[in-house]
Amino acid sequence: MAILGESVELASQLLEQGKLVAIPTETVYGLAANALDSAAVARIFEAKNRPFFDPLIVHVGNVNDVAKYCINLPSNWHELLNCFWPGPLTFLFERNKEIIPDLVVNGSDWVAMRMPNHTLCLKLLQLLPFPLAAPSANPFGYISPTTAEHVLLNLGNKIDYILDGGACQVGIESTIIKVHGKTCEVLRLGGLDISELDPFFETIKLQIANNSNPSAPGQLDKHYSPTKPIAIVELDSAITAQANVAYIRWKQALSGVPIQNQRILSPTGDLNQAAANLFTYLRQCDSMTDMEAIIAEKVPNVGLGLAINDRLQRAAAK
Ligand code: TXA
Ligand code: MG
Repeated sequence: MAILGESVELASQLLEQGKLVAIPTETVYGLAANALDSAAVARIFEAKNRPFFDPLIVHVGNVNDVAKYCINLPSNWHELLNCFWPGPLTFLFERNKEIIPDLVVNGSDWVAMRMPNHTLCLKLLQLLPFPLAAPSANPFGYISPTTAEHVLLNLGNKIDYILDGGACQVGIESTIIKVHGKTCEVLRLGGLDISELDPFFETIKLQIANNSNPSAPGQLDKHYSPTKPIAIVELDSAITAQANVAYIRWKQALSGVPIQNQRILSPTGDLNQAAANLFTYLRQCDSMTDMEAIIAEKVPNVGLGLAINDRLQRAAAK
């Protein structure tokens, strides 16, 4: 069974030995291994039961590390990274194939790079002589973990150590982009509000993948799913309360439903708070023993709300 602790030294020793360690980030917990060691990376896929075609994000502790692991960087890469890192924005850059193993990216020419904004995680990354490949630390397809306890529950028997950095402040995965000069392609909506990209680009194209457009292979229609059936309803739609259903609400409770059977994402209508609560509330609803299904209300489709609604839709996809 995994041990929970705050020792960056122990985490780094285990990672040096090719073992898996769960790491905190500002978005969600990651399941990390030495990104330069294919055998260690293979253990991630095994522990998560994740298909090899789904590539992993490589995490670094310094902006300049990107130049070691990537080639043909956009001319303004330094400016861009210094603006957004550390933070919830992942960049796809051309991979340096001599250093980053095929397994990390399923043979792709591109590698996803990110520098997380979390003190403990940055300490670890800056101590290690290699970057960390890390997907979210959940079994493939299930809800992403936003606390060390979530990781313990889901993967505790498959890993040695969980670096406990408290609850994730952002709560949903990073936004993923690819830069082509003055055009920015958004491949996954996430913890960075894409309007923050406006000053840097002339065009921002949403290329959000689904099963019929699998340019980001991991972005399967069905993802982030609880074990109970879940349905999504429009914001503010008039619905009648049903017995044995748990409700996730944007900011107002549904009348006629006992308060313990519903979760309000943000009573004050704050999308940041809603994002930070989303995965924990989905898990809580999933573990309410008397409830047979979950009905979640969409949030306003602006800013971080785009990413929250994306996660809800994928959770509910067939
Ligand atoms: O916030 C996050 O990004 C978290 C934390 C742990 O950093 N990580 C995360 O990883 O969400 P994961 O594996 O659950 O999702 C990564 C997704 C993949 O499923 C895929 O869609 C995309 O990133 N991706 C990664 N590498 C890629 C590549 N080389 N080409 C295209 N898409 C890639
Ligand atoms: Mg994931």
